[in-house]
Amino acid sequence: MNEDEVDIQDTVYFFDTTLRDGEQSPGATLNVEEKLEIARQLSRLGVDICEAGFPIASPGDFDAVRRIAEEVGPLVEGRKSGQPMVIAGLARANEEDIQRAYDAVKVAPRHRIHTFLATSDIHLKHKLRMDREECVDQVIKSVSFAKSLCNDVEFSPEDAGRSDPDFLVQVLAEAIKAGATTLNIPDTVGYTTPEEYGRLISYLIENTPGADTVVWSTHCHDDLGLATANTLAGVQAGARQVEVTINGIGERAGNTSLEEVAMAIATRPQTFDLQTNIDTSQITKSSRMVSAYTGMVVQPNKAIVGANAFAHEAGIHQDGMLKNQQTYEIMRPETVGLNASKLVLGKHSGRHAFRVRLEEMGYDDLSKEDLNAAFARFKRLADKKKIVTDADIEAIIADEIYQPPEIWKLNHIQVSCGDHSIPTASVSLTGPNDEEYRDAALGTGPVDAVYQAINRIIGVKNRLTEFTINAVTEGLDAQAEAMIRIQPINGEREYGMNPQTNEMFARTFSGHGASTDIVVASARAYLSALNRMLAAREEEGSVVSVQ
Ligand code: KIV
Ligand code: ZN
Repeated sequence: MNEDEVDIQDTVYFFDTTLRDGEQSPGATLNVEEKLEIARQLSRLGVDICEAGFPIASPGDFDAVRRIAEEVGPLVEGRKSGQPMVIAGLARANEEDIQRAYDAVKVAPRHRIHTFLATSDIHLKHKLRMDREECVDQVIKSVSFAKSLCNDVEFSPEDAGRSDPDFLVQVLAEAIKAGATTLNIPDTVGYTTPEEYGRLISYLIENTPGADTVVWSTHCHDDLGLATANTLAGVQAGARQVEVTINGIGERAGNTSLEEVAMAIATRPQTFDLQTNIDTSQITKSSRMVSAYTGMVVQPNKAIVGANAFAHEAGIHQDGMLKNQQTYEIMRPETVGLNASKLVLGKHSGRHAFRVRLEEMGYDDLSKEDLNAAFARFKRLADKKKIVTDADIEAIIADEIYQPPEIWKLNHIQVSCGDHSIPTASVSLTGPNDEEYRDAALGTGPVDAVYQAINRIIGVKNRLTEFTINAVTEGLDAQAEAMIRIQPINGEREYGMNPQTNEMFARTFSGHGASTDIVVASARAYLSALNRMLAAREEEGSVVSVQ
């Protein structure tokens, strides 16, 4: 975005970094198709700028950013702003990174280079081993180089929250002179309080020469649970871009969550008196999609998108709600895309009723194949369960649609277990060459036996790092949703690179599965994680082998 394109006074622009800072969180590894799907949803949600990744990290990361720029960059349909998203790529402050970021984003009609360099003494001394003068020089060089390629340049002084404000003024003034159009102020380690962060933004805007020619931006981390409060304090101090992620995912405790900031601004117009381009009715769908693809479960009491965010259990609250919703409800659930259904779905419901409900829930863009697959699952579930709820439908969508390519497919499993027998499982899978594979194994329990049998067939060494299973609804006939994470053993290709620490980290792959049978749900989750790991290997050019 250029200065002449933005309305600095009245609009808060949403810069979503789910696919970059969010993807840096352990277990959130996404493949290219999943990143594209999330980017399309961010576009529908009305995000102004999408930070699509860190292109220098690997050929796979570059390719994902380039494809998002090419395929999602031009989309405008249904967007409140009437403009396509700006596609941004992250780059450390050096020419190679910046060139690579530019090459990845340049096909998007609106594109941005986002470059950063740490400015706190602690980072300068221990991480970068440079003095302040060298830091200023590198900022001038890198921002000028970025500007020579691209009009829209964002600069971030990393760890600004712990940097000397007067040194920040000096660095940021040079960044403006070198051509930066957005200045982002990261509280990288989530250290500041709202009062301090707001004061820092005011101080920088008041004292940096040329401050009125750029957009000021917030970027807060949630280590002290203050990310949303800090972001809003930054907005009140004059920032007009907020850097956020869906569900607040991100490194350590995460980033500021998009839905909290968007709903605070929408719900408190007298306090903020600002507009956004966010279509809040897309929030719930975006949250579910990101949670399913990243395997990062949303805590039930999470503001706006948690399962209990709009639930009223206490009798006194329910009584008040029945008399007048405003007694205990500051936002209507439909504002965030949670529509109470007028339809009760069960075994007699047909395809039309199912499709209408999906549309009401925001799933109006499913392909014919996805709709058929979801409907077949719905019918099977309705045979076992009297009433199919929205939560059941969400679980079906996550299990059928938000899945990696099915390199390995579950046909059947059979287990025998009990307190007087050794748990035994036999498994039948279809492999990448469409052939059927069968094997059996013993385990410490039924789930372990199934995993051992699957391992005997697929033969990809991995470590299970997390396994959870939850009931989707109440009642004994409830569906179970299993979520697991695995890490490859000796998988030299499954590494990511953290742009801030420059360290390679072992990627974790998540998977989820749903069924009324907990062992089947666990098997589906395990295969989903294995397929995600194998898809990542394929993306990096390796061949999936059957042993
Ligand atoms: O938290 C941070 O400092 C960042 C920068 C790279 C913007 O994510
Ligand atoms: Zn960050």
